[in-house]
Amino acid sequence: MCGIVGIVGGRDAAPVLLDALRRLEYRGYDSAGIATLVNGHIERRRAEGKLDNLATVLEARALPGITGIGHTRWATHGAPTEGNAHPHGTERVSVVHNGIIENHAELRAELEGEGQTFSTETDTETVAQMVDLFLKRGMSPRDAAFACFRRLQGAYALAIIFAGHKELMIGAQHGAPLAVGFGESEMFLGSDSLALSPLTRRIAYLRDGDWAVLSREGAELFDMSGEPVEREIRQTAQIAGSIGKDGYRHYMEKELHEHPLVIGNTLRRMIDPATRRVVLPDLPFDLAAVPRVTMTACGSAFYAGMIGRYWLEGEARLPVDADVASELRYREPPLTPGGLALLISQSGETADTLAALRSLREGGQHVMSVLNVPESTMARESDVVLDTVAGPEICVASTKAFTAQLSVLACVAIGAARARGTLTDAREEELVQALLDLPGRAAELFGLGDAIREVAEVVADARDVLYLGRGAQFPVALEGALKLKEISYIHAEAYAAGEMKHGPIALIDRTVPVVALAPNGRLFEKTASNLQEARARGGRLMCFTDNSGAARMARIAEKMVVLPDAHEFTAPILHSIAVQMLAYEVALLKGTDVDQPRNLAKSVTVE
Ligand code: F6R
Repeated sequence: MCGIVGIVGGRDAAPVLLDALRRLEYRGYDSAGIATLVNGHIERRRAEGKLDNLATVLEARALPGITGIGHTRWATHGAPTEGNAHPHGTERVSVVHNGIIENHAELRAELEGEGQTFSTETDTETVAQMVDLFLKRGMSPRDAAFACFRRLQGAYALAIIFAGHKELMIGAQHGAPLAVGFGESEMFLGSDSLALSPLTRRIAYLRDGDWAVLSREGAELFDMSGEPVEREIRQTAQIAGSIGKDGYRHYMEKELHEHPLVIGNTLRRMIDPATRRVVLPDLPFDLAAVPRVTMTACGSAFYAGMIGRYWLEGEARLPVDADVASELRYREPPLTPGGLALLISQSGETADTLAALRSLREGGQHVMSVLNVPESTMARESDVVLDTVAGPEICVASTKAFTAQLSVLACVAIGAARARGTLTDAREEELVQALLDLPGRAAELFGLGDAIREVAEVVADARDVLYLGRGAQFPVALEGALKLKEISYIHAEAYAAGEMKHGPIALIDRTVPVVALAPNGRLFEKTASNLQEARARGGRLMCFTDNSGAARMARIAEKMVVLPDAHEFTAPILHSIAVQMLAYEVALLKGTDVDQPRNLAKSVTVE
């Protein structure tokens, strides 16, 4: 998955494209490139690695031209080399692409049979070569592009420019998002509205199968049968401009420090300060009548949903089926009519989650999504959107969006419990108070830096780390292990603490530190017994507990991080922040690229 952008305009395109690519770099940073039309010819500059490398290339060899396309790549087909960097093309045509052309091998064979010569291993080049062939046969750019789109299978957002056509760009969307931006005598294409936000706020989102012919004066839109279509032009609310680190060393550090603010802002949307009650938006279905929830998401967002499952089942007595989206979409679970599909996504663009959303809708489910990007594809396709008010999250590893998702899910559980009559007023007051206490408690965590650093020193020396937790702390353990893997490249496994004795205990020795999540609560003693079992086998216990649990844990832990006491309902939120802080400290010790870890991208728009 990659980011694409295009401009047909009246100003130098390259600096505008480069700036827009900076806002798209979260989609991938394996390589980047730009192509423009210079005196009717296509010229391009490309560079392996981060966008800064492309900026250096452009400084050395400027690229004039007022019409151009740009790309930032997360490699799918072909290694992340300069040669495989987009734009791809021939002397007649240049293409940038986000997605995967699934029938590329078959098309490549066919095009080679027609005499086209490929110069890369990428699936994208099949698009360029096919359009090139059609142009050589005398078709107009519009006809050539349309004929090509009809042959493509898979997912794509495309932007194409043509030699000799200074004011023409053609885009297409199928399974990967593409926005058309309307400017003053200039037009834009972009993977999202954030990319285009400083350029224009007037955006039309294409639908799957749409393709667009852009000139400086506007856009003609068509569907896959070639019929003209109208798409609403919206005023986007995206914040323009680039987002700084505000003096922090990394975006991750900045975003970790935003937890208290983000939790507070998200809760303010969902809790009425006068009545101190959770207020859910008007729902087009009756929550009390929902027989079952199917929760799905990917990665950290899925772990947030797993914690939400404990809350929904515990407080609202609502059965929740939970599965990662990449599995759920092919599992074909029998769905109860009128059930609720609960999707969680920071970006609102994750391909697996989006596909699961569509299949759950087809299965007759109401669709509720917890999203951080209100203008995302998932937002447009959901019946109800609950916003996390986390603001743009730049670090590839999710932090503040995760706790914002948890804040929303906690409120959904309380709202559902009230609707279903499983919650007394006293319990609701208790839970709401626990939520309102969270921003303050979260801010206190930043005083734990020294204790977390001590644990980080042990973890940074390890090759493998085990994370353990029980109940709603089990998904927190999963989140902690994932974050450690992502940004420090240390292998980590998370287990439900009670499951350890069924296998993973064989791993325990002095070289495998155990990060234990053990705040006081119903499962505290049971967790402590499981940890004791690890300790008895020489395990080095790094315990994250709270003030009430500290004395007990001190008897078995080698190192402790003592969090402020919190209600058992909200403790997983605080512990999530603490394990994210640990991963950050370990990554600092390892000297990794914290904000842009290797092989990852922020928004995974391919299956
Ligand atoms: C982990 C992380 C990923 C995302 C996952 C889903 O730190 O950021 O695991 O949570 O790729 O992304 P969204 O939430 O955009 O659907």
